[in-house]
Amino acid sequence: MADYPFEPFRIKVVEPIRPNTAEERTRILREAGYNLFAVRAEDILIDLFTDSGTTAMSDGQWAGMMQGDEAYAGCRNYYHLEEVQRSIFGMPYFVPTHQGRPAETMLMDLTISEGDVIPNNMHFDSTEANVVVRGGKAMNLAIDEAWDPQAHHPFKGNMDIAKLRRCIEETGVESIPFVMITVTNNTGAGQPVSMENIRAVKEVAEEFGLPLWFDAARYAENAYFVKVREPGYEHKSPVEIAQEMFALADGFVMSCKKDGLVNIGGLFGTRDAELFERAKVLMILREGFLTYGGLAGRDLEALARGLMEGVDESYLAYRIEQTKYLGDRLSEAGVPIFEPVGGHAVYLDMKRFLPHIPQNLFPGVAFTARLYVEAGVRAVELGSLAFAHPDPTTGEMRYPALELVRLALPRRVYTQKHVDYVADAIVKIYEEREKLEGLELLWEAPLMRHFTAKLAPVS
Ligand code: F0G
Repeated sequence: MADYPFEPFRIKVVEPIRPNTAEERTRILREAGYNLFAVRAEDILIDLFTDSGTTAMSDGQWAGMMQGDEAYAGCRNYYHLEEVQRSIFGMPYFVPTHQGRPAETMLMDLTISEGDVIPNNMHFDSTEANVVVRGGKAMNLAIDEAWDPQAHHPFKGNMDIAKLRRCIEETGVESIPFVMITVTNNTGAGQPVSMENIRAVKEVAEEFGLPLWFDAARYAENAYFVKVREPGYEHKSPVEIAQEMFALADGFVMSCKKDGLVNIGGLFGTRDAELFERAKVLMILREGFLTYGGLAGRDLEALARGLMEGVDESYLAYRIEQTKYLGDRLSEAGVPIFEPVGGHAVYLDMKRFLPHIPQNLFPGVAFTARLYVEAGVRAVELGSLAFAHPDPTTGEMRYPALELVRLALPRRVYTQKHVDYVADAIVKIYEEREKLEGLELLWEAPLMRHFTAKLAPVS
């Protein structure tokens, strides 16, 4: 098991964890309809639900919060953010947004019409839903290895260039507003995309006259993987790699709640002056004036500083290695995980972990429920509950190829002891896995049902 560099920070402020018992957790879970979205965060001991917005900010960021300029227009923190945006992403036009989704919906409202197709390596769930509600089709064109939890490939987030070409030729360029790459590929277990692949996608997009957009939530983690895995990048810094990546993009949308190291914030950046003019109108309608984008001045300052800290090499080494440490502890005990371990999370492969629970009885939910009762740890199901949907023509339920549970590590929040506690609990559950049983749905919403579904054990 790889040891990892010690946490490159000292802890200055702490948030107490309130203990509870397995008995209490059993009741809480039942009352929540076995859906961990409905459990209060105070009732969680270790929260690995998401790495989004859960970062611990640095003293430098908190100091910046005190220097928030809360002017409605033209606050100084916006200009600081602009400087940082230019230095890392290099887009001539940008606006801050309050998180990733408003940036995404702006792009999609401006570009997608009914019947359009969006090629991506893999869409994130809300991104896919945003395409679908506009009458578009979200195509996931990652390489075949991306769907095989046991396949080894250094860049399992890569787009399959032949699939992309076929998709464009079959659809016709007039129905493709843009090509997207998600770095890292969250839905596909946080796997990185190589620079070589980004360049190849760019070439195809350019050949057909299509713009290339990044869904850049975890671009810094992607840059780190390029540094350590892609020949020729070992001597480049993560920020230089990011600059090289973004030079290939025509635009990007970003949830800054991940690699921006902030609790709230997003970005929309483009090279297209005409598109930006139209985006500005939508921004003012929805997020507020262009220099604050639905955020307070202090949030902009925390983001400007967080973006720079997020590409720091010693931080990224600790970050990626901590995730790998959790993965190694599990795989050494025989627990089936998605391999290799991605950037922000360890994903458990429920098809191998709970082969006795069929996909229509939500093995991932059975596991997350058990993990909560056993140890007070919250993980998220990314399988049948999140991604199964009825076939539009036959109405028959289509189940996703990947049946995963994600253990997402918040940035700079948990120590190695916390990670060991999580690993021990999962190994114990794995040893007793035959005891777990499936669940049935009691209630579901028509779109993105996993956020609000209610379930109950089958027996
Ligand atoms: N794109 C990706 C790749 C994401 O992972 C997320 C959010 C978004 C877009 C949307 O950003 O939440 O700021 O509006 N992912 C979170 C997660 C929610 O838990 O993985 P947002």
